[in-house]
Order: sequence, then C-alpha cells, then structure tokens
Amino acid sequence: MAKILLTGATGYIGSHTWVALKAAGHDVVGVDNFSNSAPEVLNRLAALTGSAPTFENADICDAGALKRIFVRHGVDAVVHFAAFKAVGESAAKPLEYYRNNVGGLVAVCQAMQQHGCRHFVFSSSATVYGEPVFLPYTEAHPLSPMNVYGQTKLMGEQVLRDWAASDAAVRVAFLRYFNPVGAHESGQIGEDPRGVPNNLMPFVAQVAVGRRPHLSIFGNDYETPDGTGVRDYIHVMDLAEGHVAAVDALLGDAGTFTVNLGTGSGQSVLDVVKAYERASGRPIAYQFSPRRPGDLPAYWADASLAKQLLHWEARRGLDTICADSWRWQSLNPQGFEATPA
Ligand code: NAD
Ligand code: WQD
Repeated sequence: MAKILLTGATGYIGSHTWVALKAAGHDVVGVDNFSNSAPEVLNRLAALTGSAPTFENADICDAGALKRIFVRHGVDAVVHFAAFKAVGESAAKPLEYYRNNVGGLVAVCQAMQQHGCRHFVFSSSATVYGEPVFLPYTEAHPLSPMNVYGQTKLMGEQVLRDWAASDAAVRVAFLRYFNPVGAHESGQIGEDPRGVPNNLMPFVAQVAVGRRPHLSIFGNDYETPDGTGVRDYIHVMDLAEGHVAAVDALLGDAGTFTVNLGTGSGQSVLDVVKAYERASGRPIAYQFSPRRPGDLPAYWADASLAKQLLHWEARRGLDTICADSWRWQSLNPQGFEATPA
C-alpha cells in the first residue's frame, strides 16, 4: 500500500482512478482547483469508497501550495491528470494551455524533486502520434501532434524524459490514452462536461436524456466501413485499472515505460450511436454534417505492450460502456451541479 497524489483528482478520469486505487488498497490524496469539475464529486467518492476523501483545493501552478501538500502528506507517487484538454479551445488560448499543461507539470515535478518523490504517472494521449504513418499506432509510431493541446502533451513527455535522464531514481509511466468513455458502474460518477460537449459520447448521452435535440455526425464520407470516423473507445474503469497497474509497476522495479491504453480495436460513430440506442432503449436523432477540421478519419491502438508489461488489458466492450454511461446520465440528467448542496 502506497500514498498516491492525484492531481486533477475530481475530474473525469481522476475520480474513476481514485475509486480504482482505493479498491486496490492504496491511500489517495486528491488535488484539484475545480476549474473543470464539481465539488459534489467528493461526496460521491466518499459514498463509493466508504471513507471521507483526503482532498486539497489547490492550483498545481502554485508552488507554495504544492510544497504544503507534499510536507503534509508524504507522497510515494504522483498520478498527474490536471490539465486543460479541449482541442478547439487550445488553438484559441495557446498560452493558457502551455502554462497549465506544461508550466503546471514542471511545478509538480519541482515539488516532487524537493521532497524526494520520484515516481510519476503521466496522462499522455494518442493525439501525440498525429497523422497515421501506419495503424494501429504502436508506441514507436512517429510523434507529430496536429494541435496545440497535443503539443502540450508531447512537451510534457519531453520535460519528463529530460528529468528522468538527469536522475536515475526518477521513474515515469507515460500512458497514452485513446478515447476514454463510459462511467463507473454505480452511475454515481461519470463525465460531466461544462457547456456543449466537444466529444462524441457525452453528446450522445445528452441527446438520449433529452438535453439536446440531435447529434451532428462530423463527416460520412471518410474511407471507413460506414463513412464515419473510427476511434478506439476505452471504458474509463478499464483506463483507471490501467493506472493502478502502472503505479504498481513503477513502485515495483519496472523503471520508466511508455504504453498505449486502448482496447486495440476501432468503432465508428454509427457503431456508438447504435450501441447507445440499445443500451438506453431510446432513439438517438442525428444528422450528417461536414467533417470537423483537424479530425483524423480513423485510428486505434496496438494495445499489446501494456498487456505484456503491465499484465493489463481492457475488459469492457462498447455495450458495457454505453450501459454504464446511460446509468450515469439517466441518474444525473443535469450532471453533478444539479445536486443540492
Ligand atoms: P477533466 O477536465 O475532467 O479533469 C482534469 C481536472 O484537472 C479537472 O478536475 C480540473 O479542474 C483539474 N485542473 C486543471 N487545471 C488545474 C490546475 N491548474 N490545478 C488544479 N487542478 C486543475 O479531464 P479528464 O478527461 O479527466 O483528463 C485527465 C487527463 O487526461 C488530462 O491531463 C487530459 O489531458 C488527459 N487525457 C484525457 C483524454 C480524454 O479524452 N478525456 C484523453 C487523453 C488524455
Ligand atoms: C470522436 C469521433 C468525431 C463529436 C479527442 C481529442 C483527443 C483525446 C480524446 C485528449 C470523431 C466524431 C464527435 C460530435 C461527431 N483527448 N464526433 N460528433 O476527436 O477522437 O479525440 O478526445 O487527449 O486528443 O482530440 O474524440 O469524441 O471528439 O470524436 O461526429 O458531436 O466522433 O468526428 O470521429 P477525438 P471525439
């Protein structure tokens, strides 16, 4: 059992990973500034884990706050989720993205260095690969992100590689996520984007629950089996369990490693729509719209390295993903904020 600091702990992936780490017997300290999450998440985590969460409301760019947190809690490893993640917004606000995603990361690493903590799990993304030279993407695929958000993730990887090269005790797990979707099977926590969802699954969920009239499908003329975009959708609890495996490997003797966290297969937008209709029992109205600028036609993971190194693989398929998403969305039609204080 180790003490794990989660930054971005009340966000979508952080909150699910919190549950998985506790279930595996680890102690968790969560940090978040609620810039993209709701305090109600903490009440849900208390109910799900059976104990009051240890939580610090702080900005990871604040070195003084980080110092206090490390002194107070004696951390063995950091899982770093805190970042901005909207691709479109990153083009409009590049400096904010570099400051938070790269500057914030450097601040966390410096605090770790000062307090003798050298085990780091990094939320990277398949977006670092860019235009596919071959598919599925392996970890050896060339890295060439196509947007500012992706650049911040690639720079984050570089910062961590340089830190690890300077200090043999530093160990980093670079986890490149594909498309995280779904929710905890309890329906108590899930994805709750602010405003109009940028991503497919939360948009579909909001159509199913009646918050939005229809889905716009961005392109039906791609060279894919049904003409719509293909992605590797991974259940967020599979992803969370991948983090537990990564933490355990780092705290063992795995050394630094880079792995894709995906399922190894691709699904189209129409596959997702049909699966969601089955799970919810409701029709999902949609219309075809022009392609979204910057979208790739298709990509999915070669997931074999994670299986080999971490003995981890995704277990939940698209029907489970949609059933769990629908449980979350139908129990919480307006998300966390609608919950009375
Ligand atoms: P999210 O926005 O739900 O969670 C991020 C959390 O970090 C939020 O709760 C936010 O309030 C917090 N945060 C942001 N800046 C902060 C700061 N300066 N100080 C303290 N807290 C701060 O996003 P998510 O989907 O859970 O993503 C988590 C991580 O995984 C991010 O690093 C993201 O880039 C990465 N990632 C996400 C996806 C995806 O599709 N969701 C895919 C690949 C990688
Ligand atoms: C999936 C498919 C869309 C919305 C993004 C980031 C990536 C990573 C994961 C963080 C595509 C189509 C979508 C809609 C649609 N995030 N779509 N109508 O773009 O694969 O990946 O999230 O690291 O970096 O780019 O995910 O869910 O937005 O799109 O037709 O309203 O659904 O065109 O084919 P994407 P997405």
